[in-house]
Amino acid sequence: MNKEKFNIINKENINKMVIEFYMGILFEENEVSRIFKDKLGDDIITTQWQEHITLLTNFWAMLVLKDTNYNGKPMKKHLHLGLTKDMFHDWLDMFYETIDSLYEDHLAKIFKTKANEIADSFMKMLSL
Ligand code: HEM
Repeated sequence: MNKEKFNIINKENINKMVIEFYMGILFEENEVSRIFKDKLGDDIITTQWQEHITLLTNFWAMLVLKDTNYNGKPMKKHLHLGLTKDMFHDWLDMFYETIDSLYEDHLAKIFKTKANEIADSFMKMLSL
């Protein structure tokens, strides 16, 4: 039987989505995964990862729910990670997979559109 997908977006399910996304990344063995493991370690239980998850929950809640708890500068953190176009495509593929597995189509579309716009703007800034 198919699992029920979220039919509303709230901060609680954004947090679940963020955890699931990064657990999936840690499970992978690709370049995107390597960058996260180098920067934050390979165990999601650590304080470093928990801080990242809180940050990213606030970030997505800001974008989708107009939550006001994120006040970082995401671009800056991506300047010196050695990112490539292929890595962004892999990141987006993995993000889409998580989103599609959790949210009904019309809601999934909201996250995917935002992610795509931001990935494009990061790539532009990095001249990729
Ligand atoms: C190739 C793709 C990507 C990789 C490998 C990557 C990797 C990372 C890493 C390692 C950090 C932690 C940096 C640190 O703490 O010093 C980070 C932070 C972050 N990333 Fe990404 N990222 C990617 C794409 C994206 C995209 C497309 C978005 C948005 C849709 C995004 C949003 C963020 C945010 C909001 C933070 C937290 C920034 C802050 O400290 O306020 N990332 N990313």
